[in-house]
This record gives sequence, C-alpha cells and structure tokens, in this order.
Amino acid sequence: MGSPGDGAPDTTGVRAIRVRVGEETSRVANRRDWDRYADEYQATHGAFLGDAGFVWGPEGHTEDETRLLGDVAGRWVLELGCGAGQCSRWVIDHGGHAVGLDLSLRQLQHSRRLDAETGTPVPAVCATATALPLPDERFDVVFSSFGALQFVADADVMVAEVRRVLRPGGRFVFSVTHPTRWMFPDDPEEGGLTASQSYWDRTPYVEVDDATGDVSYVEHHRTIGDWVSLLAAEGMALVRFDEPEWPADHDRTWGGWSRTRGLLTPGTAIFVARRD
Ligand SMILES: C[S@@+](CC[C@H](N)C(=O)[O-])C[C@H]1O[C@@H](n2cnc3c(N)ncnc32)[C@H](O)[C@@H]1O
Repeated sequence: MGSPGDGAPDTTGVRAIRVRVGEETSRVANRRDWDRYADEYQATHGAFLGDAGFVWGPEGHTEDETRLLGDVAGRWVLELGCGAGQCSRWVIDHGGHAVGLDLSLRQLQHSRRLDAETGTPVPAVCATATALPLPDERFDVVFSSFGALQFVADADVMVAEVRRVLRPGGRFVFSVTHPTRWMFPDDPEEGGLTASQSYWDRTPYVEVDDATGDVSYVEHHRTIGDWVSLLAAEGMALVRFDEPEWPADHDRTWGGWSRTRGLLTPGTAIFVARRD
C-alpha cells in the first residue's frame, strides 16, 4: 500500500484486502517480505538514497537540508527500520554514535556490504521495533525514515519502547506515508487523485498469497491525531510536523509517489517529538 518500496512490487498471485491482523502476523509476514524484496529494493533505490545519504522520503528532502535530528555530533542515535543503514552512516559521518535496527536480516546484509564499500561501518541489530534489545535511557535521538512504524500493529508498545531507550529530553523523529494518502488508491497516475476510502478506516492493508492463503505483507494506518495521541500517551510532545512539498523539478516515481500526485497532495509526514 503506502510504503515507498512497498515490499510487494510484484503483486501477481497476491490478493490485497483490508482486514484486522495482529502484531505477530504483521511481523512474520513483513520479515519474510523484506528479506525477499531487499535485493530489488536496494538495486532500485540505492542510488537515490546514497550509501551514506539521509533522505526522508520519495520527495527527496534530506537531513542535510532539514536538520530535524539537531546536531548529532557526540550523540547516541538509534535508527528504527534502518534497511541498509544509509541514514545511520550519514549520522556517523556527522560525528554521531549511530546504531541501526531492522527486522530483515537481508536488509542488514546490504548494510554490511555498504559498510565495506564506504569504510563507515554501522553497528546493527536484527530485531523488531516493538521489543528493542537495548538499555534504558541510552539514546539522545531515535529516528526512522519510512522504517518500522507503519509496519507494526502494536504502535503503543513501539512508542513505549522508544520512550524507554530515550534519555529525558531526547528526540523522536520519524517519517511515514502521509496519513491522508490512505484515502486514495495507491496509483501514481491520475487514478490516485480521487478519494475512495475513509481516512478514518484503520483496518490494516494486507496482502494474501493466493496459492497458500498466507498473509504476505501488512501495513497499518494511523491518522495524524492517532500519532499525536500515541506520542502524548508516552510523555512525548510534538514539537514539529513537516509535510515535505514535492520539488518542482523532481520527476522520480517511487511506488505510489509521483510528480502527478506530489504537486497536489502530501505524500510524506514527518513527526518531531520531544520526550519529557
Ligand atoms: C521502506 S524500508 C525503509 C528502510 C530505510 N529506512 C530506507 O530509507 O531505505 C522499511 C524498513 O523497515 C523494516 N521493518 C519493517 N517492520 C519492522 C519492524 N517491526 N521492526 C524493525 N524494522 C522493520 C523493513 O525490514 C525495511 O528495511
């Protein structure tokens, strides 16, 4: 559905439905899917992301421009859903102590490949964002660029885990598919401009393998208000909310993100919150 690099580029033999699924089903399906899709994801998007680049979404806005994390020099920084660790590598190149975490071992193998190619190794952990195998109050910043957040069912558990590992006053910054995109068909062309689904329908987007009947991919929708409430419940106040505009000269299509849609509707939402 709405993730850039949606883990199911080839939807042959897959049925897309909206149905309730829980955390374990989401985790098992998405781990398998990202392991399967990682090679193609990195081959398709690696150059756009940059081996040590930090891109917040398909619009191409970078941390070099936005500086949403603040000064990372000397700071401990955790990335959720780090993929091949490009953003964490950017943090290390800017003097931070970054740790990357991802559910997919294959994505982390790509991170190892880039460690060797760039000479900037990213310490990496294979785990889920809902159970961080990391100590309390260790990090100054936790961030995610289209990483784990829209793939987990138990967002409340994940946000509580983020709070636990953040130091008081620490920052939580994340980009996700803009929640309003869930009203539209996932079509980069004109067909993706007409609202056809309720913004308030939180039923997850689920792909089911026709042959086996297994759930093969899951994404979870939360409204903007849901995210603000989830953060507030863990003592995290929203201090900034960005909706990156599509640059006039940008013409790269990524899944449902395109110039056609990007010039008219927001595709990415970036939340910046501060822990009490
Ligand atoms: C769209 S990719 C983004 C990767 C990277 N941030 C980038 O910009 O290329 C989403 C990533 O989230 C990871 N992911 C999905 N569910 C996760 C979970 N529950 N915990 C941690 N990572 C997860 C996937 O394995 C995948 O690497």
